[in-house]
Amino acid sequence: MTQEWTHIPIMAPQIADFLLTRQDGVYVDGTLGLGGHTKYFLSRLGPQARVLGFDKDEEALKMAQERVADTRLRAFHKSYTEAPSVLNELGIDGADGALFDLGLSSYQLDNPVRGFSIMADGPLDMRFDLQSPLTAAVIVNEWPMAELERILKDYGEERNYTKIALALMHARRETPIKTTARLKEIVESVSPRRGKTHPATQTFQALRIACNGELDAVEQAMASLEKVVRTGGRAAVLTFHSLEDRLVKNRFKALAQSGAWKLVTKHALSPEYAEIRQNRRARSAKLRVIERVQ
Ligand SMILES: C[S@@+](CC[C@H](N)C(=O)[O-])C[C@H]1O[C@@H](n2cnc3c(N)ncnc32)[C@H](O)[C@@H]1O
Repeated sequence: MTQEWTHIPIMAPQIADFLLTRQDGVYVDGTLGLGGHTKYFLSRLGPQARVLGFDKDEEALKMAQERVADTRLRAFHKSYTEAPSVLNELGIDGADGALFDLGLSSYQLDNPVRGFSIMADGPLDMRFDLQSPLTAAVIVNEWPMAELERILKDYGEERNYTKIALALMHARRETPIKTTARLKEIVESVSPRRGKTHPATQTFQALRIACNGELDAVEQAMASLEKVVRTGGRAAVLTFHSLEDRLVKNRFKALAQSGAWKLVTKHALSPEYAEIRQNRRARSAKLRVIERVQ
């Protein structure tokens, strides 16, 4: 029996209230995932509406197409950073709304072969796009010490970055580091357990961000938002950790100061308690929405 993967879309009704300003508009779902948000949006949109869905993960994209099963969706196996050129090719001036639900889906996290999970053993992969040559194994086994320190510090906000980088350098000289379990073991050997969070959590985050160029993609998408959203349209971003949220907050602030955009949410919104109770992964979510006024 094949496993039935799930991902519960976060704050879907609230996002739809903010984003779906035109019944038959064009919408960009920059992170289609398993299609949860898109399916919900389409249930509230008119027959002429269109959703252009992007995802770097081809497996997720196929599942999303099956689940959404709606001719109003067009799915692209591309990064959301390519949305401006796709819209351009389709002759669309700009979308009425765009959603970026950052990070990874429960499907990717729960599937041990993808190597994202700290809970289950799996290969050190962590790629969103399985066609990309850069796996987490390449990073831990081939990148120089200074680069390992940089990503642990900047992307993991890991205080023990030198100790951990050094431990990785030593371990890989003996034998290549191939699995998530081995990675956990190495980190634990120099950064002992304190409290509930596993000491390798920040290392996993750093590797995932580096492997997928996540923060660069967010920066790029925020910098070219006016090529994705038409005047009067809105963009919504869901973030899951402070690095992402800080970046989006600062970018939105700069856009608002330019006068061409206005903040729809003055502060980040969080899911209601009832949603967090049903879906623990919603607990760290933060939603920010901006509108293009010029
Ligand atoms: C949190 S999930 C989205 C879940 C989706 N909103 C749903 O309801 O099913 C994030 C998705 O974004 C994808 N992703 C991450 N970075 C991306 C990028 N630069 N371009 C396109 N997709 C990306 C991941 O592969 C993952 O499937």
